Amino acid sequence: MLLNAEDFRCQARRALPRFVFDYIDGAADDGACRQRNQADFAALTLLPRVLRDTSQIDTTVTVFGSPWSVPFGVAPTGLNGLIRPGGDALLAAAAARAGIPFALSTASNMPLEAVRAAAPEGLQWMQLYVMHREMAERIVQRARRAGYQALVLTVDVPVSGNRELDLRNGFRMPFKPTPQIAWEALTHPRWSLRMARSGTPDFANLTVAGEDAGSASLQAALMARAMDRSLVWETLGWLRKSWPGPLLLKGLLHPEDARLAVEHGIDGLIVSNHGGRQLDAAPSAIHALPAVVASVQGRIPVFMDSGVRRGSDIAKAIALGAKAVFLGRPLLYGLAAQGAAGIDAVMKQFSDELVRTMILLGASRIADLSAA
Ligand code: FNR
Repeated sequence: MLLNAEDFRCQARRALPRFVFDYIDGAADDGACRQRNQADFAALTLLPRVLRDTSQIDTTVTVFGSPWSVPFGVAPTGLNGLIRPGGDALLAAAAARAGIPFALSTASNMPLEAVRAAAPEGLQWMQLYVMHREMAERIVQRARRAGYQALVLTVDVPVSGNRELDLRNGFRMPFKPTPQIAWEALTHPRWSLRMARSGTPDFANLTVAGEDAGSASLQAALMARAMDRSLVWETLGWLRKSWPGPLLLKGLLHPEDARLAVEHGIDGLIVSNHGGRQLDAAPSAIHALPAVVASVQGRIPVFMDSGVRRGSDIAKAIALGAKAVFLGRPLLYGLAAQGAAGIDAVMKQFSDELVRTMILLGASRIADLSAA
């Protein structure tokens, strides 16, 4: 029975070749940061109130003028097409069904226009990695034309984290199947058949969200995460100019960086350590959240991700000042385990758990959680 995120994780492990599961599940160095993300959530408690009217529960929040049915969204994750062909379209459609936003990674296997077309009525945000500024500029313009509502600049990958499982598995981009990878794929006939049936398998089709498809040097730059490390606060202005909508920074943890973000006209922050995939020595995101919230002083919304595994974790993040959270791996486990139905099931699990937590806390609206 698949009842929680960990159940879906175990099922995903069975459903995927090892190099794919390890890519999703893995973290940097010793996995200490990934572990802290969950341990610090577990160590937090919520103080319930009793005898309050919870006969009606309202989980909606409004973000940049748009209603979300529940206070969580889909975090941007690269190479979702490795899990299932068209993974990003499946995630985007599920998010639209659930009335929550989907963030598309720069490292998507699908052109951003195709993902938008898969759920034209949904809320979609575009995540940006800046490798080459002209390419970033083109992605931004395409995202604007396609109708993405917000731009998320990820700032915690100046260099790729040290993912030793990927190294051991010989998993790198551009994708070159090693004998070990070929063996792992072949021993998963369902995964291999699905990829084969999809025409050009997604892993052979790394398009950088559709940008310059086929440019091997670009693919190599992306996957080696050869970021433009000369991008600093003072040069952020060019992005601000080319994107008129909400511009968010994802992957900061320091309250002083939060203050600088407000000063530089950023519209929202996602406190995150990339699910423990970057700096293994980083604090958990939930630990870093309160100082960032204090530094921002309500001027822009603060979101968080990294380690959210239960509806009660969402309540804890909101109690500590988050507007909403983003889910990373749990939705990928759902996608791996059962495709579209699996994503729906994981989203429902988080919503149901949040509602139950709210009732147990005596909170009938999301705003009531701030006092928990
Ligand atoms: C990520 N993440 C990520 N973030 C980003 O800004 N761009 C990206 O391309 C990716 N790619 C990516 C791939 C995979 C497989 C994972 C697991 C994560 C980070 C992601 O947006 C988010 O910060 C974390 O996943 C949150 O942590 P949890 O919920 O997975 O613990």
